Amino acid sequence: MSNRTPLMAGNWKMNLDHLEANHLLQGLAMALSDAGHDYTECEVLVIPPFTDIRSVQTVVEADSLDIKYGAQDVSIHDNGAYTGEISTAMLTKLGCTYVVMGHSERREYHNESDELVGAKARKVLDAGMTPILCCGEALEVRKAGTHVDFVLGQIRAALAGWSAEEVAKIVIAYEPIWAIGTGETATAADAQEVCGAIRQALRSDYGDATADATRILYGGSAKPANIKELMAQADIDGALVGGASLKADSFAQMAGFYA
Ligand code: 13P
Repeated sequence: MSNRTPLMAGNWKMNLDHLEANHLLQGLAMALSDAGHDYTECEVLVIPPFTDIRSVQTVVEADSLDIKYGAQDVSIHDNGAYTGEISTAMLTKLGCTYVVMGHSERREYHNESDELVGAKARKVLDAGMTPILCCGEALEVRKAGTHVDFVLGQIRAALAGWSAEEVAKIVIAYEPIWAIGTGETATAADAQEVCGAIRQALRSDYGDATADATRILYGGSAKPANIKELMAQADIDGALVGGASLKADSFAQMAGFYA
């Protein structure tokens, strides 16, 4: 058993207005409380759309919730003429502690490169928040059998020049694109193969302390029915959950995988 604290992260994507967000968050807090959730056994994080963050902050603070919250993306710029962008300072001001970057949906629909993803992670770390760096291969890459090299290539390109201490502070999320929103989960063994290879690469690139400290999540049709098996894998420290995080009971159940 490692001493990495598991992380259950709900990526709400472009779902829920701020009123619906409040409703889900309150339902989640209630479900976790009813289940006697121990936040030291598994950290719980919600990642709403930008427009919901202020409302989420208000509920978290008013009810003194242990649930953490973060953002789905961020700008690499500090401020200025960047229409539509959101800065790290805006997010820290709202109490965000995590930011996702490099999600396959942003890589695909917004042409985000590994270099840009790495710059976002750097910006987030420098602002005192935790980057959740996403990686993952498309179905063609998986079929060609080059998925491990592909994923390690994405991570190494994004983190080029980082120190071992810096890498130890980030979270890596392995999300095979073919398993996202398709109902097709990678088997626990498929997920472990890549998450294990990521940890091995961290070990050879940065040493034991970093490899043992960095949390690696799996994402892609993770749900209550498969979370236990996924979490039983040596190198999976949590999940980045899409669809199943939009239902309070499902997500609370996933956070209690250890129960
Ligand atoms: P699903 O859980 O809906 O497959 O989404 C996974 C994901 O992309 C989380 O970031």
